[in-house]
Amino acid sequence: MTDPLLIGPFTQLLPMTNMPLKGALKDGQLEVIENGGILVYEGKIQAIGKFGDLKSKASKIEAVTGNTVCMPGFVDAHTHICHAGSRAKDYALRNSGKSYLDIAKAGGGIWDTVTKTREASKEELIKGIVERAATHLKSGVTTLEVKSGYGLTVEEELKMLRAIKEANDQIPSDLISTCLAAHMKPKDWNGSASEYLEEISSSLFPILKSEKLTNRIDAFIEESAFSPLEIGPYFQKAKAMDFSITVHADQFTTGGSETAVSFTAVSADHLEASTQKEVALLAKSNTIAVALPGASLGLGCGFTPARRLLDAGGALAIASDHNPGSAPMGDLLTQAAILGTFEKLTNAEVLAAITYRAAKALELEDRGSLEVSKLADFISFPTANYQEITYHQGQLKPDCVWKNGIKID
Ligand code: NIG
Ligand code: FE
Repeated sequence: MTDPLLIGPFTQLLPMTNMPLKGALKDGQLEVIENGGILVYEGKIQAIGKFGDLKSKASKIEAVTGNTVCMPGFVDAHTHICHAGSRAKDYALRNSGKSYLDIAKAGGGIWDTVTKTREASKEELIKGIVERAATHLKSGVTTLEVKSGYGLTVEEELKMLRAIKEANDQIPSDLISTCLAAHMKPKDWNGSASEYLEEISSSLFPILKSEKLTNRIDAFIEESAFSPLEIGPYFQKAKAMDFSITVHADQFTTGGSETAVSFTAVSADHLEASTQKEVALLAKSNTIAVALPGASLGLGCGFTPARRLLDAGGALAIASDHNPGSAPMGDLLTQAAILGTFEKLTNAEVLAAITYRAAKALELEDRGSLEVSKLADFISFPTANYQEITYHQGQLKPDCVWKNGIKID
């Protein structure tokens, strides 16, 4: 048993509480506690408020010095950080005029990473995840979703998901895994797309449950991947087994978000190609729209219509999509801030999208805001004004990160 520990004072403390899940936000809706403190007990928040008011309840104080802005640890709700190899060659080809789809058709793209990931041992994959998660943690990301999807056989997908599970046990951040065996039809599969999906759902899904590898099933719905028609029976099976659904939707062509909404997916991610029809559909639904500006920056294409999604009443999260192909940069705050400038998002909208709204995209009720009984996952930036954080577009890094109330060195 530990004693209640008071951490602070923070010049500004942004709990990100009492804000709606859906719709546009004004900066005036951000609660800012001046000279705030957080009382931590056994990894959770026991109290939050003015530092001076909490002193009498604390057994110990962890003093914070200088100007600091504290907020919840960031949640990155969409990454592919379990992989081997680089695709710098694809990036150069794209920048010399070849399209993402041209490169994929010519044997580059996702399949190139599949080949390299299959060659890697589980231990090599774990090492890569641990290193990348450490970089994300330094940038304030305390919870990261990580997808499989570069294995594309039952055994190779299992290798990836086991690597994610083992990496999670080795690091302070929390990894939330997702099965993306429906990333593309493997080039070495002798059969139809539907037969491949049938093999995955009947052979892999039960092992995901028995080994507790993931509760989440993702699919890439796209011309180069799977059609809504092919994915229908796959998602039906996943839902019948009580998996949550998430979708790579409307990245280049529409169709994915409609499927996502019809299967009450927890999130529809990408949405760069979404039109007003898809925006309206998502806004009416309980599916969280996840913008992935890192993919727009990596591919040099347009951004998700974040402003329109919010104005229509949708719930918007922003994630890094960190992957070796379309989104190699991986810096969530940089990408969220840049999306903010192009889409005219308020600070409240950007920060909500990488905290409590992102937690909701992962169905995590215990984090994303700083309130009593939630995880003591928070970060501080060396500034007196929260507006400086997006202003520096990711160059102002957190100076401290706490995970479960423990300061990470
Ligand atoms: O989210 N769009 C499909 N999948 C990934 C890209 C993965 C890759 O190119 O390796 C994405 O952008
Ligand atoms: Fe992705």
